[in-house]
Amino acid sequence: MNTIIIYASRYGYTKDCTQLLADQLKGETTIIDADNQKEIDISDYNQVIFGGSVKIGQLQRSITTFAITHKSELLKKKLGIFVSCGEKANYMKYLQDSLPKELLTHASLIECFGGEFRKENMKFFEKRMISVIEKSNEQKGERPPMPMFENIKKMAAEFSV
Ligand SMILES: Cc1cc2nc3c(=O)[nH]c(=O)nc-3n(C[C@H](O)[C@H](O)[C@H](O)COP(=O)(O)O)c2cc1C
Repeated sequence: MNTIIIYASRYGYTKDCTQLLADQLKGETTIIDADNQKEIDISDYNQVIFGGSVKIGQLQRSITTFAITHKSELLKKKLGIFVSCGEKANYMKYLQDSLPKELLTHASLIECFGGEFRKENMKFFEKRMISVIEKSNEQKGERPPMPMFENIKKMAAEFSV
């Protein structure tokens, strides 16, 4: 069993999730940062897991581009898709808005890995935006983004059989 994980991460949370996932997977695993590698070759792998994080409702362009470019090849592989976000209730909508429908139908497992606000890695205007979101969440009694490590475990179990 050999697996390739393709991810994109703005502030580091999804990158850490990807490493946690790789640590739990059986067999050989390769991790690729889609923002640092334009040409991604998945031909040597029988399992592909890919995903990114959400900013203002959108996944990273590098992940959308990867999914569209490799669609026909991905449809022949065992496929897992994940997303990191703050509003876990919306995770499917974010994926539907950013990825080809056929891939979502074909995937063996789609998971939300939850999220974290890593302010230390944000730019000034992003920190301001997050403060506004946090205030609004507080007023509505909504919780801040929370990691969902149990879903990383589920993904690892599905791709270790
Ligand atoms: C500027 C900004 C905008 C965001 N927009 C959304 C959003 O529209 N919906 C959502 O569910 N989460 C949103 N989030 C939460 C992120 O998806 C979450 O913090 C995630 O863990 C980021 O992962 P990363 O560090 O791998 O990029 C936003 C976070 C930031 C900093």
